[in-house]
This record gives sequence, C-alpha cells and structure tokens, in this order.
Amino acid sequence: MEFKILQKPATKHQAYIIDDIAKLALVPGITEQETSFVKTCFNDEQTFVTINRFSYFLFIYLLKSKKTESQTRETCRKSGAELQAVCNKYKLTEVTLHNISAMPQAALLLAEGLALSNYQFLKYRTNSKKITHTLHTVYFTKTSATLKEVSQLAITIDAVYRARTLVNEPLNYLSAEQLSKEIATLGKESGFKVTILNKARLIKEKMGGILSVNMGSQQPPTFTIMEYTPKKAINKKPIVLIGKGVVYDTGGLSLKPTPNSMDRMKSDMGGAALVSCAMYAIAKMQLPLHIIALVPATDNRPGENATVPGDVITMYSGTTVEVLNTDAEGRMLLADALHWAKRYKPGLVCDFATLTGAASVAVGEYGIVCMGTADEPTRQAFRDSGFSQYERLVEYPLWDEYGDQIKSDIADLKNVGGPSGGAITAGKFLEHFTDYPWMHFDIAGVSFATSKKGYLPVGGTAYGMRMLLDYLIHYNKA
Ligand code: BES
Ligand code: MN
Ligand code: ZN
Repeated sequence: MEFKILQKPATKHQAYIIDDIAKLALVPGITEQETSFVKTCFNDEQTFVTINRFSYFLFIYLLKSKKTESQTRETCRKSGAELQAVCNKYKLTEVTLHNISAMPQAALLLAEGLALSNYQFLKYRTNSKKITHTLHTVYFTKTSATLKEVSQLAITIDAVYRARTLVNEPLNYLSAEQLSKEIATLGKESGFKVTILNKARLIKEKMGGILSVNMGSQQPPTFTIMEYTPKKAINKKPIVLIGKGVVYDTGGLSLKPTPNSMDRMKSDMGGAALVSCAMYAIAKMQLPLHIIALVPATDNRPGENATVPGDVITMYSGTTVEVLNTDAEGRMLLADALHWAKRYKPGLVCDFATLTGAASVAVGEYGIVCMGTADEPTRQAFRDSGFSQYERLVEYPLWDEYGDQIKSDIADLKNVGGPSGGAITAGKFLEHFTDYPWMHFDIAGVSFATSKKGYLPVGGTAYGMRMLLDYLIHYNKA
C-alpha cells in the first residue's frame, strides 16, 4: 500500500469526508440530482454513498460524532474498510481522500482503516495474481494530511503487514531459527542491530527456562536481541520490549486436545512478531528513543526428551521452577528474557505474549489484558494510546494473594496456578523475574482472528502494534 500527498488537482476516484450534509455544497461539480440522492441515502441511516460518474467514482462519507472521541475515530477506520471493499469490487487502483470535515485526522483514519483491511497473505496461493487486491495507492489532498502524518501512517501499516505475515507463516516455514533470520532482515532494512544467540550459547548462559521448553523439539531454540540507538535519545535508561516467540505450541507432553485448540497455535509467536516489527517501525521513523527488544523462540513439542510434568528447572535467574504443566511454556521462556533485561538497567520493560487462554476468555477479541508495576502516568499513557488506536487495554491487579497460587511444595515456584485467575497468576510468575518498571500485555485473545472483523483480516492481526507505536511516538511529550 502506498500513500501520497497529491500535488495536482485530483482527477480520478474521489472520496469526500463531510460532517454535515450542508457541506455537500463544497464538493466540486456535484449536481442537484446527486445532492438529493446523497441526502436520501443519509436520511436512511446510511453513512457512505457511492456515485458512479462512469469515468470515475465519487464517494461521500458522512462522519457522525459518537459518544467518545475514541469511538468517532474508530468509525472512520471502519468506513475506510467499507471504502476498501468497494474500491476492490470495482477494481480501482487508487483513490483520493478529501477531508472537508472539522476533524483534522479524518482522512488519515479513513486511510488507516482502508490500508489495514487491504492486507492479503497470498504466498501459498497458486492463483495469487488473480485474487490480488487492485487498490494500491491512497492520495491525500494537501489540506487532508501532513507529510509527517502520511509517512508515519505508511510505516505503521508496513509494520502491521509484516507482523501479520510472520504470524500467518506456518511452522514448516517459520522455525525459531527462521524467525531470527527474518528479524535480522528487518534490522538490515530499517537500521537496528541484531544479535542471535544459538542453542550452544543458551546452554552456556544456563537459560534453563527456554531450554526446558525446547527439550521435546527437533529444532534448536534462538534468542534474538535487537537494539536501536538513535543519535540523540530522549530516554536515559533504555526501554526494553520482549515478545513471546513460541513458533508452535502443541502444549508439549501436557498436549493440547486436538479438536480446535491447536489449530491456531502457529500464532503463539504473535508477541515476537509484534515487537520485532515495532522495532522496524521505530527505526524507520527514527524515533529519538533508545530501545532494545528480546525474542526468546522455540516450538513446544512432546518429543522423546520433552520436559515432563514434575520436572524442576533452574531458570536463567537461578530461581527453581516445578513444571506442572508443559503447556504453560510461555512464562518459562519469558522469565529468562525478563531476567536478561536486568543487565540494561531499563527505565521500562514491556512484554507482549499470547500467554493465557484465560485472558482470551475474559475479554475476548476486544482488548488486551495488561498488568504491571510501571508507574501510574505510564499506565495512563498506555491506556490513552489504547483508546486512541482502538486497541484497548483492560488492566488486571497483581495482588499478593495470586502469588500464593504459584508456590511449589518442592521448588521456589511452580508454573501453574489454581483453576481461576489464570491470566493474573501467569503475570505474577513473570513479575518474579523483574526488578524494574514493567508492563505485561497478554494478547492471547487478539493476535489471531478466525473471521474477518471490519479492518481486521482472518489470521494474524498485529493487534497492539498501533497502540505500542502510538505510546512510543508520544513518549515523554505529554
Ligand atoms: N499459547 C497458550 C495460550 C493461548 C491460548 C493463546 C489460546 C492463544 C489462544 C499458552 O501457552 C497456554 O497454553 N496457556 C495455558 C496455561 C495453563 C496451562 C496454565 C492456558 O491458558 O490454558
Ligand atoms: Mn501453551
Ligand atoms: Zn503458548
């Protein structure tokens, strides 16, 4: 998808955003007949009208304010998805957006929804040429967006597409080693440093958490370190992002039941895709922030040597963990990454992980469950970004009592809690390995969709990416 600011008068397909029917008069060349047609449509609760002028299409979108600004913004994105469908239906290759509403970002938001819904994963289709969307360029008129806004949107969309594709890639392409290679490529293309630790190095470092998950696998684990250092960083202490990179989760010996529950488990590296493609966007945008990202990666399988329930693992931090369920593997490898992060003396650490079915059960696909120890202004900033991007956050508490559930009879911790509060006991487990301000984002419910919803396609969604980038873009500026 390409975005450009139009320098000359628009000629082809036009989309006008208005917030008042009276503004129809401002659409150049609109006839009386067309005006009364559009008015009838809008009276009919419709908000989006297509006029076929034969040599080009004229689209009119009526922007209506909702209860909150966050909701109004989301309506613009959703309308973008509608426009995307119509454009491809008529095989249009480009469209020009004119914002004549009073909301400054309306055209950008419409373009965002349009671009988010125009994503396709066609690598494995033999008929890909035939089914590729025709739409590939969105123009803005000069008064509809600034150059900086357009460039940030283009990078964000690029990062979202890349993260979705990583999630959509199956295990028989995307092993842990391949994931590391993909991250190295992202680093080269955008300008951040990538270091890959191999299995021998993980053994040498005694990273017991990630190694224990890898025991049943035929393929080696990796630990990928990304670092973006701008010339002038506004943060003294680095921000560290961590992404769960379980390239496939069978559950290990605590095998998931086959019907349905394993179908989407190639997406268990959604956190890794999110943070590594966020790094790509951060470097492309040249944000003035020193940011490091860590991706511990492996598949989780019930092979011959697999960790058995009851095994006691010495983690990278030295903490001992009784593994009572090998399907609670995410926290094992995240714990090692969280301990690794201490060496940077970070100002903030954020982990993104498809960690618990409990988070998904609690809020479904409409938000991210988060918790952490970061200060209130930081949490508020994240919540604001969540609303602004409509990738909303629901915050859970880390009360001490939940920690009692993960006390082991024979080791320091066990890797599962009781039958309830599963998203929080997983969070409490992670908290044990932190000594810095920290936020945990459980994206289990949102990272993969089984049906298309507005601008979210089937498959990888990269949900959370726009929230995270918005937070970083506005870092310290509030
Ligand atoms: N990857 C899963 C969590 C998950 C579930 C992600 C559904 C996406 C959709 C995670 O590794 C897992 O298996 N968690 C267990 C933990 C339990 C054994 C304590 C779960 O949530 O059931
Ligand atoms: Mn699991
Ligand atoms: Zn998992």
